[in-house]
Amino acid sequence: MYKAMFYGTIGDRQFIENTCKGTPSYNLCLSILLANPKSQNANLTGLALIIVDGVKNEGVKTLQQIDSLKKSLPELTAALMQCGDVYNTIIHVDVPLTINALNLGNPKFGEDGMADITIESQTCERSFKEHGQTSPLTNMNKDMKDVANVGRAIIRMLL
Ligand SMILES: *[C@@H]1O[C@H](CO)[C@@H](O)[C@H](O)[C@H]1NC(C)=O
Repeated sequence: MYKAMFYGTIGDRQFIENTCKGTPSYNLCLSILLANPKSQNANLTGLALIIVDGVKNEGVKTLQQIDSLKKSLPELTAALMQCGDVYNTIIHVDVPLTINALNLGNPKFGEDGMADITIESQTCERSFKEHGQTSPLTNMNKDMKDVANVGRAIIRMLL
């Protein structure tokens, strides 16, 4: 349905809003897309790429937070290391895989990449519970999951 509606449309505010309405987080989607001037001329693939860029930014930010928490809360080191693995995978595997898939016109693999991220962010969250600790990354893990789900929804419109 979305593909038929949007394919080939020139990117503009209405197109961006309509695209975001098809995602689980309208406001988040809109704020990421409108913050990037490239969204003005982007087709649906272009909008998906901007969200994937947002996923990457979120991942870099979280990885920096993980590094600083390792110093301030050394008792959380084991769980934080697991989260470091998770976020490195997101940045260095899932994001490039998704970008490649979109650039090669193979959105199904891109959807898989985004789906992996929603699972991985929860793996990080759970690693604290497994150590009987409270997660200091709950908000960031949730943000990551939400952005990835927006990306996933837009990529689905391309399938
Ligand atoms: C859509 O945008 C992508 C990424 O910017 C570009 O590579 C592609 O050629 C565009 N597709 C069409 C049909 O204009």
